[in-house]
Amino acid sequence: MKTNSHIKSFVKRSGRITNIQKYFLNNREANNSFYTPRSLIDISKLFNNDNPCILDVGFGDGKLLINIAKKYPEFNFIGLEVYDSGIGNILKQISNNEIENIKILKIDAIVFLEKFIRNSSLYGISLFFPDPWPKKKHYKRRLINENFLNLISDKVQKGGFVKIATDWPSYNESIVELFERNKRFHKTSDIVIYNERILTKFEKRGILLGHKIFDLTFKVN
Ligand SMILES: C[S@@+](CC[C@H](N)C(=O)[O-])C[C@H]1O[C@@H](n2cnc3c(N)ncnc32)[C@H](O)[C@@H]1O
Repeated sequence: MKTNSHIKSFVKRSGRITNIQKYFLNNREANNSFYTPRSLIDISKLFNNDNPCILDVGFGDGKLLINIAKKYPEFNFIGLEVYDSGIGNILKQISNNEIENIKILKIDAIVFLEKFIRNSSLYGISLFFPDPWPKKKHYKRRLINENFLNLISDKVQKGGFVKIATDWPSYNESIVELFERNKRFHKTSDIVIYNERILTKFEKRGILLGHKIFDLTFKVN
């Protein structure tokens, strides 16, 4: 059994949380869209269908995930976040929009993938604006590193994809290098479901700061 000793790609912070977010957060265990895994997940059972499943890591305020899940009901989506306000926010949006093809988990992506996801059981993984940890001394906190690539290459099925967007040139460079070195992926053009996607909160922030946006897509060989 793997231990839980990896360097975390996030820091615990208690951000501001609205009353409505708090309501959804406090009642999450009774919410059909919130899931707490206890053992290896049977994705077909979880969603009650055999649709391909896409994992979104760090959905933030959840607006992009909601938008895509509504547009593509023929896919299942699992959304991971570690911050309470994000969880409360997306559960509210799922409920307001009566969405049935998203499950939300509050868990570190590494723990989730290592402990609860069967090999080759995901059709895709998306990471929109993963925390860039811009200072060199913090690079070790970046989620996308060699170990992460090895992990996801086991979990995404052959022909499946990894979609990443970042506005940090040094993170982009390191991601491209890592994928080039890892022989289990090849670079490809964008996946149809992300064509004309809405901008995320962090993407808007990057654009306002004048940052270039790097959109990367890789497929599993
Ligand atoms: C910079 S934000 C981007 C949020 C959103 N995707 C966007 O583009 O607006 C990165 C998010 O990833 C989440 N995150 C970081 N490390 C994570 C991990 N190991 N597992 C799950 N979520 C993580 C953080 O909590 C944060 O909300």
